[in-house]
Order: sequence, then structure tokens, then C-alpha cells
Amino acid sequence: MKEMEARDGRLEVRSTELLGDLLGGILSAVGNTIKGILTGVTSAVADGQAYKAPGALGSSQCNKDQCCVWSYVVAEMKTAFTDGNGCSSLARGAIRQGFHDAATWDKNQAFGGADGSLLLSVDELGRVENRGLEAIAAQTKGWYTKYKQYGIGMADLIQLAATTATVVCPQGPRIKSYVGRIDNSNSLPSGFLPNPFQSALSLIEMFALKTFTANDLVALVGAHSTSQQFFVDPSRAGASQDSTPGTWDTNFYGETLTNNNQSNVLVFPSDRNLATYSQTQRQWNAFIGTRGQAPWSAAYAQAYFRMSLLGVKNINSLTDCTKVLPLPRI
Ligand code: HEM
Ligand SMILES: *[C@@H]1O[C@H](CO)[C@@H](O)[C@H](O)[C@H]1NC(C)=O
Repeated sequence: MKEMEARDGRLEVRSTELLGDLLGGILSAVGNTIKGILTGVTSAVADGQAYKAPGALGSSQCNKDQCCVWSYVVAEMKTAFTDGNGCSSLARGAIRQGFHDAATWDKNQAFGGADGSLLLSVDELGRVENRGLEAIAAQTKGWYTKYKQYGIGMADLIQLAATTATVVCPQGPRIKSYVGRIDNSNSLPSGFLPNPFQSALSLIEMFALKTFTANDLVALVGAHSTSQQFFVDPSRAGASQDSTPGTWDTNFYGETLTNNNQSNVLVFPSDRNLATYSQTQRQWNAFIGTRGQAPWSAAYAQAYFRMSLLGVKNINSLTDCTKVLPLPRI
């Protein structure tokens, strides 16, 4: 039985679809590296050493390294994303915000994706599906105002905030992070984000159009391991989706099946649907418990790495700034 479950974990099918400018023409060295990560040849998780900025913010030494300014941004993020319970409400918000900017895209769209429009456009943030993002949005706009004079963009800021938040959560993976995306301040059409009452099948179809497999989707919703709801049931504002919302653990997978809204946990119908649907339940079960932690982290990292590049059309000219991310917390 144990062996069969482990095998299911290994047999999971992850997307290998290419994105953006990787689909045609000659690839740059960076393009080739990213292709390797998207296709699962290379891991999306990076070890690393603490980065030391070569100079003060704005100095010529700092400006020589495109990642240097980001190390200053990330240092501020790390503080904001940490609290006594592990990772903070702003961290949870940043993880969700990265998803909501990037996933406003599918294969049939000429525009959209990880382009910063969630915060640069006049109306995306005000939409129903983005309720709850107000605090992280205000914080992110504050960082943008402070650091844009040093050359940072909003799309990159949103994605770096998401990957920094993930690794700041105890047990969270250090997901490879690139910068150089092109910003867009035009609002994108609505209807690209899921709602918590959707069926498993309609979620699978929605995510397939964004190049994710059903197994990728199961890995991605594990982000609800660090989640609190305020608007699904306002009478239970603050209820989390597992018992440990400050930790990037797999309690969410087990509790979604067994917890019936007791002890300040609120199970979204969409999560319960994925946990019990024929096409997703084996993958769901493989992520439960401590033996699920390593496979989930790797699967989440690969799927979120893909998320962070949806709609990006200049992948060949991005820069790897993973080195400025904090190191994982045990
Ligand atoms: C099946 C698809 C999904 C649905 C239906 C869904 C729905 C929701 C809803 C309704 C909330 C609570 C909002 C509120 O009431 O305050 C939420 C929170 C959250 N979601 Fe999702 N989500 C999905 C997938 C994802 C994915 C793919 C990610 C990240 C990769 C993600 C990350 C989060 C996080 C971190 C929170 C907590 C935000 C906070 O505590 O402030 N979700 N989600
Ligand atoms: C938990 O509460 C929410 C909101 O009231 C409801 O939609 C959901 O079905 C409940 N889940 C379970 C497992 O009872």
C-alpha cells in the first residue's frame, strides 16, 4: 500500500509545455536554462548561499549587478513576511497576489499574465476575485514607489514577493526567480481566476488552458497551506484553510479531507472537490503527511515557476536573480 502511494507520487504528470518566446526561434543561454526548468530536466528549487550586495543602493557597484537592487527589496520583504507564527499575513497575501497577477492569462490570449497589471491598471484590484489583497497591494505599491527609480518593474516585484514569501514560510521551497518582465498598465479581461465553489473538472479545464496539468493544479492549491479567508464566509473572517497557516507544511492536504470546518479551519468546497475527484485524488493523497512534504515542495516549485512566467514574451532576455532570495527556514 505504502509502495503504491509512493509510486503514485512519482508517476504524477507535470506540464512540460513551453511558454512565450521559447516556442519559436533560437534560444539564448537563459532561454535554454528556463526551458530545462519548465520541462522538468532541471529543478525549479535552488540551494544557495547568502548574497552580499556589492555596494550601497544606487551606488555604481550595486548598479553593475542587475540583482543588487533586488537584494534591498527582498531584505524589506523578509521582515514584512515574518512574524511569531512563521510567515505573516503579508506573506500569505504576496503568494496569492503573485497567482492573481500571473493567472489572468490563458493560451488563447495575446496579452496578460505576469505583467503587473493587477496593481498598475485602474480596475483589476477592485474586482470581486481580488478581495482580500488590499493590504499586500498597498505594501507592494509602496515598495514600487520607493525602488522604481533604481530600475525595478512591477511585474517582477509581484513575482519576487511571491517567491520570497514562499521561502520565508518555514519549510517553503526556494523557487528560482528571474527578472526583466515587461510591465502592462492596461487592465485585462476578468474571468480568468477560479472561485471557491467551482467543480474539480471546471478547475482542471481552467488550469489546463494556462498550461497546467491536473497534478500541477493539486500542487498549486497547496498554497492554501498558508491561507486565511475573509470573504468566502465573512462570519468566520480569519479562519484558515489548515491548522498551521504560518507554515508551509502538508497539513492542508490531510485536513481538507477530514476537517469539517472545526477549530477555526474552513475548508473551501473547491479544495474538497479536488481532494475527492477521480482525476486528482491520488495526487492529493500522495501529498498528505510528512512523506508528502518533499514531493509537494518540488512539484509546487516547478508549477509556480511556470506560473511566474505565464504570458511573458521575453523569456530569452530575463536575468536569474535567485541568489538574492533568503535561504530556506527549517
Ligand atoms: C483552485 C483554485 C483556487 C481557488 C478557488 C482559490 C480561492 C481562494 C479564496 C476564496 C481565498 C480566500 C480569499 C478571502 O476570502 O480572503 C484564497 C486565499 C488564498 N489563496 Fe487561493 N485559490 C485557488 C488557488 C490558489 C493558488 C494556485 C494559489 C497560489 C499559487 C493560491 C494562494 C492563496 C493564498 C496564499 C491565499 C491566502 C491569502 C491570505 O491569507 O491573505 N490559491 N484562495
Ligand atoms: C465550510 O464552510 C464554507 C463556508 O460557509 C462552506 O461553503 C463549506 O462547504 C464548508 N465546508 C465543509 C467541509 O463543511
